[in-house]
Amino acid sequence: MDKVVSLCKRRGFVFQSSEIYGGLGSCWDYGPLGIELKNNLQNFWWREMTQLHDNIVGIDAAILMHPRVWEASGHVEGFVDPLVDCRQCKARFKAQDLIGQWRAKKKLDTLADAEIPEGSEGDVAALRAIRWGDAVCPTCGTRGMLTSPRLFNLMFKTFMGPVEEAASVVYLRPETAQGIYVNYLNIMNTARLKIPFGIAQIGKAFRNEITPGNFIFRTREFEQMEMQFLVHPDDGDPWLEKWRDERFEFYMKLGIRKEKLRLHQHTPKELAHYAKAAYDIEYEFPFGWQELEGIHNRTDFDLRRHAEYSGKDLTYFVEETRERFVPYIIETSAGLNRTLLVVLLDAYAEDTQEGELRTVLRLNPKIAPVKVGVFSLVKRDNLPEVADRIAQDLRPVCSVFVDHQGSIGRRYRRMDEIGTPWGITVDYQTLEDQTVTLRDRDSLEQIRVNTMQLPQIMRERLAE
Ligand code: GAP
Repeated sequence: MDKVVSLCKRRGFVFQSSEIYGGLGSCWDYGPLGIELKNNLQNFWWREMTQLHDNIVGIDAAILMHPRVWEASGHVEGFVDPLVDCRQCKARFKAQDLIGQWRAKKKLDTLADAEIPEGSEGDVAALRAIRWGDAVCPTCGTRGMLTSPRLFNLMFKTFMGPVEEAASVVYLRPETAQGIYVNYLNIMNTARLKIPFGIAQIGKAFRNEITPGNFIFRTREFEQMEMQFLVHPDDGDPWLEKWRDERFEFYMKLGIRKEKLRLHQHTPKELAHYAKAAYDIEYEFPFGWQELEGIHNRTDFDLRRHAEYSGKDLTYFVEETRERFVPYIIETSAGLNRTLLVVLLDAYAEDTQEGELRTVLRLNPKIAPVKVGVFSLVKRDNLPEVADRIAQDLRPVCSVFVDHQGSIGRRYRRMDEIGTPWGITVDYQTLEDQTVTLRDRDSLEQIRVNTMQLPQIMRERLAE
């Protein structure tokens, strides 16, 4: 993890936000290579989830929505973390984390196992029943100074218009999903869709996380890639399985190692309030197995609640059978930034080339920020000019980086480190027969090809 974080900063993938002011907790900026990788990743997802299907369309909804949306969705009431404070050292903990720690290490050593109710991790009433006042603070070690859990809503609040009063409160969306639900009829009617169909969206979401961290893994501002698939209520289970499998497959297409991925089916206790069944796709991060994407059968919960809170009829009508129903929703929800972290961690490798340590990102060429490096063997005798012309011809096809400085070995290694799949070198032979060497990042194979063929070769390789 440390090596990837340092590579990100050194090569311009990710910087700390507001760094010159000392940074802002858990906020990150994407540099020139980071934004290319992120764009490529989201385009890869978008293509897989919309273009390759005849019944999935896209939307880009506003981040700010009517505050009633979040009452209907259950977020105002239920999107809370119970927090416990230490009155002595002012440390603040998620109650769940304390219980987890206690169960693992017996840290709140005054409480017997029996005093922690089964399932209390997710149940506020059960959490409150615990005798926190008898426990020891894991930070300062003082006994008897922990408060009972207090509920803290994770939504960011702001005010719409000039008056900061309760009536003008709006929230930054904590998930992109709701923008799809409230628009479902608009989308269905304008795109002339029939169930089953899907609506995809990529966009920012905000959560005032208590424990952000692990670089871009958990942040307060992040991006989601979500697809909501509307089905007949009887078809929920098979569609959940289909999307679970398809989404798992997606990460392998992306090039993630299969042994680093696994599925986790939610137990009844783990299920979100809106879900009937759910799977997480997990990745083995350096800090353990963690969720990368959630796939849920959300039932008709969201649409029923929006119908109730808005007073609008959100039922679906089947002309032929005259059947009327509220569709079930199968949701696939992935974090874009978290996927980017997975892609970097999974691609990172070190090997030895000609006696020297090489760092290489074995990125899928489709998402690599730079596709091809173009080099002149030496910086004289017209070689740089020839290389510049080759680069110019390739620019309409893919992203190109030109480098005339330093030893050729070092230039290759700089490209390997950012995951550039191919390198083209112009040498003296090029002046005679218009051929260049084309080097492969992974096999290190070098072949000679005619410069005229380069755009076509790149086009073909990127289409594979
Ligand atoms: N609409 C369903 C939903 O939002 P979620 O499990 O809360 O479900 C889905 O979030 C995905 O969004 C997660 O699997 C994760 O990849 C990403 N995600 C959630 N919270 C995040 C955070 N604070 N920082 C980065 N990514 C996050």
